[in-house]
Amino acid sequence: MKPQRKLMTLDEFTIQETRKFKQATGELSSILRDIGLACKMINKQVNKAGLVDILGKHGATNVQGEEQMKLDIYADTILIDVLKSSTDCAGVASEENDDFIAFDDPYSKNSKYVVLFDPLDGSSNIDVNASIGTIFAIYKRVSKLGEACVEADFMQSGKNLMASGYVIYGSSTMMVYATKLGVNGFTLEPSIGEWCLSHPNLKCPEDGKIYSINQGNSAKYDGGIKAFMDYCMDTNKEEGRPYSLRYIGSMVADLHRTLIKGGIFMYPADSKSPNGKLRLLYECNPMSFIVEMAGGFASDGMQRILTIEPNALHQRVPIFIGSKNMVKKVEAYIANA
Ligand code: AHG
Ligand code: MN
Ligand code: MN
Repeated sequence: MKPQRKLMTLDEFTIQETRKFKQATGELSSILRDIGLACKMINKQVNKAGLVDILGKHGATNVQGEEQMKLDIYADTILIDVLKSSTDCAGVASEENDDFIAFDDPYSKNSKYVVLFDPLDGSSNIDVNASIGTIFAIYKRVSKLGEACVEADFMQSGKNLMASGYVIYGSSTMMVYATKLGVNGFTLEPSIGEWCLSHPNLKCPEDGKIYSINQGNSAKYDGGIKAFMDYCMDTNKEEGRPYSLRYIGSMVADLHRTLIKGGIFMYPADSKSPNGKLRLLYECNPMSFIVEMAGGFASDGMQRILTIEPNALHQRVPIFIGSKNMVKKVEAYIANA
């Protein structure tokens, strides 16, 4: 009897997607494969973090002045090494490196894509075994093929994204990525070491009943955000019950839940951080592209995240992201404050 093989691997899926574009050359699929390989290697260390000397602090700080964890550096190094030996990536920019890195071999100089990433998101959760993630953004370079990539290749608004995605190292390890064709989720099947299609054509519900924010910062929030939080906690609104508050402290984990169940994730500006905490180029843009390709919406409170023209590699922006109707509602509260 012919075995009924239901599994579709990431490679099979990306090749199938490539066939939808006559002029496609498979380079984007190859980068996704490379990122998938790097994240399988990161996953291996995350899964045994307590057993090897990879927990704890690296003993240095990154350009943002944040204490680097050993796993941050390990993940960053793996992604750079894998993408450097790829034949389809001209260079990378990462949360853990002050400046972008232009790969200087002839293959890389002839590659048409650049990749930005947050190698390990949610670092504060590493030592307490809560879900963490990797976030990536893939752009077509704007500079000339054959030469080293330049800063302008990385400083593109999110609406130019060719693809973006995340890996969540949680109860299972999943990769979710978006292109303009849609959003699909792949679960790592460790016994064969393959990312297998498990969540085809993901859609973000237009409404939700979960709000996600670091309520501990409330005293520093503007009036409009406080008023929206009161609305979420109000038992008298049309739904007649308060919403639930869920906050994991890893953007990837909070947004994966938001994508699947609906709701809103917020990291506003506050009196201490006038632009908020999360970085535009390798956190907010890639996650906004995914949520919007799934039918959700992402705003900085006034404008669509994906239309923001970047002015610095590690620029921070406030972010309100998730179910379209909830993000529109918080924008209205901010506008009427
Ligand atoms: P990173 O670990 O890459 O620095 O990102 C951490 C971010 C994000 O994952 C999360 O949503 C946010 O920090 C949590 O910040 P607070 O602890 O200030 O709430
Ligand atoms: Mn992060
Ligand atoms: Mn990080």
